[in-house]
Amino acid sequence: MTHLILRRRRIPAPWFALLFAAQVLAAPLDRHPPAKASTRERVLFDEGWRFAFGHTSDLDKDFSYGRGQAFAKAGRAPGALSPKFDDSLWRRVDLPHDWVVELPFQNGDDPNLRSHGYKPVGRAFPETTIGWYRKSFDIPISDEGKRLGLEFDGVFRDSEVWLNGHRVGGNKSGYTGFRCDITDYVNYGATNTVVVRVDASQVEGWFYEGAGIYRHVWLTKTNALHIAPHGVFVTTQPNGAAARLTVRTKIENESDTASEVELLQEVAGVAGARASRHVRGGPWQSKETSLQLSIAKAHLWSTKDPYLYRLDSKIIDAGALLDAASTSFGVRTIRFDKDNGFFLNGKRVEIRGVCLHQDHAGVGSAIPDRLHAWRMEQLKQYGVNAYRASHNAPTPELLDACDRLGILVMDENRLIGSSPEILGELRELVERDRNHPSVIIWSIGNEEMEQTSPRGARIGRAMARTVKQLDPTRPVTYASNAGNSDVGIQAVVDLRGFNYKNHSDIDQYRRGHPDQILFGSEEASTYSTRGIYANDSERAHLSAYDLNRPQYGSTAEDWWSFYHARPWLAGGFVWTGFDYRGEPSPHRWPAISSQFGFLDTCGFPKDIAFYYQAWWTDQPVLHLLPHWNWLGKEGQPIDVWAFSNFDSIELILNGQSLGQQRMKPDSHLEWKVPYRPGVLEARGYTNGVSVKTVRVETTGAPAKLVLQADRTTISADGRDVSLVTVSATDEQGRWVPIADSLVQFEFEGEGKIIGVGNGDPSSHEPDKLIDGSSSPPQWARRLFNGYAQVIIQGGKTPGQMKLRAKSAGLIGAQLETATVRNLGAGRAP
Ligand code: GAL
Repeated sequence: MTHLILRRRRIPAPWFALLFAAQVLAAPLDRHPPAKASTRERVLFDEGWRFAFGHTSDLDKDFSYGRGQAFAKAGRAPGALSPKFDDSLWRRVDLPHDWVVELPFQNGDDPNLRSHGYKPVGRAFPETTIGWYRKSFDIPISDEGKRLGLEFDGVFRDSEVWLNGHRVGGNKSGYTGFRCDITDYVNYGATNTVVVRVDASQVEGWFYEGAGIYRHVWLTKTNALHIAPHGVFVTTQPNGAAARLTVRTKIENESDTASEVELLQEVAGVAGARASRHVRGGPWQSKETSLQLSIAKAHLWSTKDPYLYRLDSKIIDAGALLDAASTSFGVRTIRFDKDNGFFLNGKRVEIRGVCLHQDHAGVGSAIPDRLHAWRMEQLKQYGVNAYRASHNAPTPELLDACDRLGILVMDENRLIGSSPEILGELRELVERDRNHPSVIIWSIGNEEMEQTSPRGARIGRAMARTVKQLDPTRPVTYASNAGNSDVGIQAVVDLRGFNYKNHSDIDQYRRGHPDQILFGSEEASTYSTRGIYANDSERAHLSAYDLNRPQYGSTAEDWWSFYHARPWLAGGFVWTGFDYRGEPSPHRWPAISSQFGFLDTCGFPKDIAFYYQAWWTDQPVLHLLPHWNWLGKEGQPIDVWAFSNFDSIELILNGQSLGQQRMKPDSHLEWKVPYRPGVLEARGYTNGVSVKTVRVETTGAPAKLVLQADRTTISADGRDVSLVTVSATDEQGRWVPIADSLVQFEFEGEGKIIGVGNGDPSSHEPDKLIDGSSSPPQWARRLFNGYAQVIIQGGKTPGQMKLRAKSAGLIGAQLETATVRNLGAGRAP
């Protein structure tokens, strides 16, 4: 086998031990050493950090940051930067961690307060804006000679990383990941201390952003000769039943010796899909090489069948495995057409998308991997097939979930600009994400000040060029609210994205630009509160009928029926799938969350979720609103709506028919019904045959609590979570849609509660209990219109978790969840 023929001549002394070890592991098993024999390690570095608040201006409170000569003399690090600092009084935290979600709500005039969910973070709040993290760890002597790094997937924001008193890196962006090479700074065979100072003085968005190390951190160890970070780029060209793969691979030789090694790449489980080549690299050089592979019978990736392949890349030297990396990819084609929108594998797919921010009840921006996937699973139930990463680089595990679930992605950079810093962030985004089959569009920005200016065009051109250099396979867009303008940024991108048809006249634009590809980069902005049926400005609640919208926005029905009727529009993205903290339009305090979502901050559906489900899925959908608990309103007319995809719907109150109405596609039905307690029933007919019946009943008062989990067996990996829905039923076991009982939670077993929520945009109850703030911990949350959510996370020891819920006057509930090792594939987060 040619790939085992060795050409490398000289092996520097420190490598001997490593290569020998790798050889011993690899040789007896296979002539092609398995990936696990590699000396590459990527260890999750989330556990065992210490955290404390610093201060934006008080040097004592900021642990002497700014004193002495930390920046003047390498290694002269005072205060908490020094490895000698005693952090034993700091709080223990595990990552991901968002300190903002832990803060109390605070009303005030600072405009960033409102947009960021009334949490005191930013330069105006010196005590809660600087976060310090410290962690000690041992590196064995045997790691000497390897390249060691720390990878941060996302820190909000302006972070500095110090190792053993030396500044080893940092990053301004709150959304782009970064790496610090710590090889030269490590104490081998001894303890090391990493310190991260995070400065959230500035905002990067106009929505809740959280703060802290809110994504994973990894410790990486590789041989000096290794595949570069984001160094493998797979592109696929289906050709009949087969697919040709072009794999570009960047190999770095971070040693003093020139080498020639073999790069072997193969698609796991696919006979014949392999190729190899010798690569020669000078000392301290990186080299990019390209290999062609083919899959004889390719299984395509699509939204309905999101099939993933794995490419294994190995660097082999003298039979020893120097490095191995796996890259997940899919085989698919994408095409945008000016007359017919978007095509996946040659078939038209209408984009039925949502915009999302990174924020969930209970945890803020520190979203566990499984919760990212769960959020996508919820959206998929309502027919969502696309996600726009508005307005920033998403968490890597979220894109993994999109790959697995078949959700298309519009991947977006946070800031617009052509400075090295911003182009660097864009580059990081594209290099990190370009292997995901789910990603179909790159977006360089959203609603920018310079969107119609020549300066905007110049900057946009530089950004689009940067994207194309790194990935020529996907179109570039920009989310524009510049009306029908065709100059500036919109003139330099491939796809013309409209943020809101009501900002523009899309039909007129189309007449003037028949050759452009058009789609809705952002639509709707419908606002509604789950379970509320009349606007209430005091509580800042908005009725859940599909009626409320800002001037520029549209109801769900208005925007969707417009886009669906125009095949030359490729579809669009709803603002938003989930509610998020901050931007509580049209209200201010007491509202602390937005209400644009068709799911609330916990993921409980609002009524309009069923509008989308009716017209975005093939399932038979019949949903009635409002609830039927209108005590004291006897005889008064109630607006009853049905979201459904049946031909016609009959409404029946207490056994008496109120007539049948025909449903127009992409619309809804309405009745005015004088209120009488009892049973309101809807029957859905297809071709005159009654197919489905739903009932909404007047219930009694809450009598009993109910706990229901999305999964009652989760991984004992310290990260997996279960989403528990808390609700109340009446004596007859019927869910009470207006229940607002205060519920207390007790927990015991192998895990913990990590957050609670209820979707009320005006609730000021805490999402989090900080360790030690009460003993025993007093987790509590009020039900909001019938629901609350508890997020429980398993520990690392297999066992049981018990969650108990109690509320004055109600029968309590208990839920048991098992944490187990080796949860089957597909279940793990
Ligand atoms: C858009 C903007 C979004 C959000 C939305 C609220 O103009 O792109 O980020 O602010 O308005 O309606």
